[in-house]
Amino acid sequence: MLPPGPRLAARLLLDPAGGFDRLHRRYGPIFTVRYPGFPPEVYVTTAELAEQVFRTDQGGGLAGAARRDFLEPMVGAHSVLTLDGDAWSRHRKALTPPLRARQVAGYHDEITDIAAEKIATWPLGVPFALRDRMQEITLEVIVRLVFGIRDAERLGRLRTLLPRLIKLGGATSVAMLPARLRERAAGVPFLPYRRFLKLRAAVDAILYEEIARRRRAGTEGTDVLSRLLRSGLGDQEIRDELVTLLIAGHETTATSLAWAFERLLRLPHVLERLPDDEPYLDAVVKEVMRVRPAVFEAPRLLDAPLRLGEYEIPAGSYAGPFIPLVHHDPAAFPEPEEFRPERFLDGQQNRAWVPFGGGRRFCVGAQLALLEMRVVIREVLRRLDLAAPDPAPETRRLTNVTLTPGRLTRVTARARTLGRTT
Ligand code: HEM
Repeated sequence: MLPPGPRLAARLLLDPAGGFDRLHRRYGPIFTVRYPGFPPEVYVTTAELAEQVFRTDQGGGLAGAARRDFLEPMVGAHSVLTLDGDAWSRHRKALTPPLRARQVAGYHDEITDIAAEKIATWPLGVPFALRDRMQEITLEVIVRLVFGIRDAERLGRLRTLLPRLIKLGGATSVAMLPARLRERAAGVPFLPYRRFLKLRAAVDAILYEEIARRRRAGTEGTDVLSRLLRSGLGDQEIRDELVTLLIAGHETTATSLAWAFERLLRLPHVLERLPDDEPYLDAVVKEVMRVRPAVFEAPRLLDAPLRLGEYEIPAGSYAGPFIPLVHHDPAAFPEPEEFRPERFLDGQQNRAWVPFGGGRRFCVGAQLALLEMRVVIREVLRRLDLAAPDPAPETRRLTNVTLTPGRLTRVTARARTLGRTT
């Protein structure tokens, strides 16, 4: 039997944070949402229930199938995001080693350079949306350090094409187009789906060119692509994984960075201790991701019934934690409304902290994302004084796949003249 839930969910995604808060208050820790045209989705909001959902990665829950419909047009059929079973395992084994903490630590200096380069272009004295600027940094990290592209001309083309591809690919008219209609839509001029296919072909041409060039030249590089080329994956599999890392890795990180500044500019006593206290900076990043997780759910499509509390959820439904509410479970995070980085200072892992998901499908890029966040926050604070023109906290809204600050973190910047420069 499914847990209770609202009859209509159409408007829920306009304001997920507020909407899910209301559902939580009304129905309690577990409830069902029915999105038109999809199987019912059971959301859980406690740390304990979330762990039970993540445990289905060992059998009974499919994370790949839960994402396939929306993501396959972009990432293709060979992506660690959308695969399950043995194929997923093979891809995950290829992607994990190059993204381990030890490996990504080698990117530290280059991320610092990219951040410095981009920060130098930010406007001074006039308000701007920080999230867009963060996205330029995180895109550059993917293209230069993950893809390992150095050629200026190829870099230039990707810098123009990728943001357009991502925007179009995330549009409802493309991502929500049912699979059975795709072939027909591809033949209709002027449809967004057709434009998307043209852009995707242009990006693919560059990626395949790069893969072929790198295979010819040898694959000694330290970037992720070079390491994937040594992993035994074929060209198409590698293309799909490169686009996967781009899609999974750059908006999420940019949004989390935008939240970091949205919060910090409203918490002067926290900001004051940054950026030079490294352990504190790391704890701040984690606390930001607790109070403002960029990704709000991590669903599994059940291929076997799952017992959650008093309910037996039937196979064929989705089950997933609603991450912002799990992060407010007072059993796991006492006084959850308080912004308190100290929670993360003792070095203990809190299993209820799930901004990167959990189980076997835990985010493969988490170490890279955390490093990027620490480095970028530090570089910004060393170079600029930021202020929020409007001191009111920004609301949360859904932009593409992440929960972003309502005004994309509106800030004004001034060059720093004293302190924090060493
Ligand atoms: C702050 C930034 C990021 C956040 C909040 C985030 C969040 C997530 C979440 C919630 C999942 C789903 C986990 C689950 O279903 O249990 C995920 C999966 C994934 N993420 Fe991230 N991510 C971030 C950065 C990155 C980066 C930088 C990369 C790669 C460069 C990346 C690559 C992936 C991949 C490939 C998966 C699929 C893993 C699998 O299914 O086996 N992510 N991420």
